[in-house]
Amino acid sequence: MLETHSWENQVAIITGGADGLGFALAKRLTQLGVTVVALDRNPDLIARAQKELGETARGLVTDVTDPAAVKKSVDAVVAEFGRIDILVNSAGMTGQTNIKSHEVSLEDFDRVFALNVRACLITFQAVAPHMLERDYGRVLHIASIAGKDGNAGMLAYSSSKAAVIGMTKVQGKEYAETGIRVNALAPAVVRTAMVEALPPEQVKYMTDKIPMKRCGTMEEFAETAAFIVSPGNGFTTGFTFDLSGGRAVY
Ligand SMILES: NC(=O)c1ccc[n+]([C@@H]2O[C@H](COP(=O)([O-])OP(=O)(O)OC[C@H]3O[C@@H](n4cnc5c(N)ncnc54)[C@H](O)[C@@H]3O)[C@@H](O)[C@H]2O)c1
Repeated sequence: MLETHSWENQVAIITGGADGLGFALAKRLTQLGVTVVALDRNPDLIARAQKELGETARGLVTDVTDPAAVKKSVDAVVAEFGRIDILVNSAGMTGQTNIKSHEVSLEDFDRVFALNVRACLITFQAVAPHMLERDYGRVLHIASIAGKDGNAGMLAYSSSKAAVIGMTKVQGKEYAETGIRVNALAPAVVRTAMVEALPPEQVKYMTDKIPMKRCGTMEEFAETAAFIVSPGNGFTTGFTFDLSGGRAVY
């Protein structure tokens, strides 16, 4: 059966939507006519994003690792728009890098998992009941090639992204008989603030592995991500899409 939904009147929540990849997708979805709500903890970035996205978009200062804050923001979105069609979890952090596993601090490991993994579940639990009610939803977790391949020097990050890929597989199956599709996207390197903050040796290690010998662009990310959350992407769920310039072959 063909999906009857269209982009029209759709509402998307994007965590980390005020900067980097989340913002690139926010711009693309806004162009497609979707109302985008960015949940981001940085008020300055939200103000900048709001200006660029225009009047239809919203930005809610939210620390997505805090379940009460997420619930408050999701409730506000439902109160204003009455629907949530799309959830994208893009807020993420690398934690310490360029170090070996025996040097990793447990505090840093926990912080990375709290944002990269646990927060994806927090937002999913807040949003899923609304999607189930309307029997429609597109959920996208931003994973990483690091979660498939394992980047040396990035233990916490790589294992957290592997966990995100696992979460996606479970949720895809659990909701397969509903109108909700849950997928992940695993980029290699796109030059955002997160990448610029890494040690140059770590960035070289990652970019050297890309067969296309270049980084991905924001636009390439946004196009692929927009397809994954589109109404037409109806028969794929629990899958991790690739965006790695040829690095991932499975
Ligand atoms: N850039 C890359 O090359 C790359 C590659 C693979 C995967 N990823 C993943 O893509 C996602 C986005 O990465 P990016 O490069 O755009 O990062 P970024 O640092 O450029 O942007 C992250 C955004 O998340 C927000 N954020 C951080 N912590 C938050 C919190 N607790 N609550 C709410 N918002 C918070 C930040 O304010 C920022 O706006 C991450 O999950 C990252 O792991 C990025």
